Amino acid sequence: MRSFKQTIEAQSQEKKTDIILALDLFLPDKKTQLERSMAILESVHDNICAVKLNRQTVLPLGLHLGADKIVAQAHRLDVPAIMDAKINDVGQTNAAIATCYFDAGFDAVIASPFVGWDDGLQPVFELAKARSKGVLVLCYMSHKGSVEGYGQTVLDPKTGKPKAQYEVFAERALNWGADGLIAGATYPEKIFKIYEIVEGEIPIYSPGIGVQGGDVELAIEAGARYLIIGRSIYSAEDPRKASKTFQERARKLIFKD
Ligand code: XMP
Repeated sequence: MRSFKQTIEAQSQEKKTDIILALDLFLPDKKTQLERSMAILESVHDNICAVKLNRQTVLPLGLHLGADKIVAQAHRLDVPAIMDAKINDVGQTNAAIATCYFDAGFDAVIASPFVGWDDGLQPVFELAKARSKGVLVLCYMSHKGSVEGYGQTVLDPKTGKPKAQYEVFAERALNWGADGLIAGATYPEKIFKIYEIVEGEIPIYSPGIGVQGGDVELAIEAGARYLIIGRSIYSAEDPRKASKTFQERARKLIFKD
């Protein structure tokens, strides 16, 4: 069975796209939210290599007979589904949360490295491996406050010397066997540093393009492999056209054609 890393890579190569749709519609009426989410996914599916759902979608719709319908539709369209769960608790709870999302069909989950390995993310990685699912690890978030946590200076546990927290996380994620690292397109210099640390071994997923101010070309030139884009696609007048425009801009750099 193919790993998540292989599945998304294959989809990306086949469709020549590195765009991941963040399908974050948040509407007062649940039925409309579900229908519109499915319609947008259908219309953009050949321009994206994955879809990412967040908790603002799962909470109102519910995981079963709600968000899982979007996941099932994604799979019908050959689009892998990522759950932006930002898993961040003790091991047993983390494993239970990941189980819920994997049982609902999600192919990968996003997790926070702040909880560490022992009795933190280790059970999630073990579970994912056993089920051929993926774990993507946050490395430097796209918002301004990211500097307070991911950007703080810490003492490198190996050398005792000062180092940026996100650099330590990138090194750890490499040891943990993460399927991806997440770094905001709003900080291309951080993407570049992370790329240097992991030497291309772990693909970098980059949110923050468009509304948050990140730029397609700068993120890819810094080392991003996948671009996560939400509002600039689903809130566009024509989401299909918007997704195609992003896909073509990125394609030139990633696939050199
Ligand atoms: P927009 O509308 O800003 O949506 O294009 C971006 C999506 O990605 C999420 N997001 C992040 N997820 N690490 C993550 O794992 C991040 O640094 C990050 N920044 C934004 C955001 O919640 C939305 O779903």
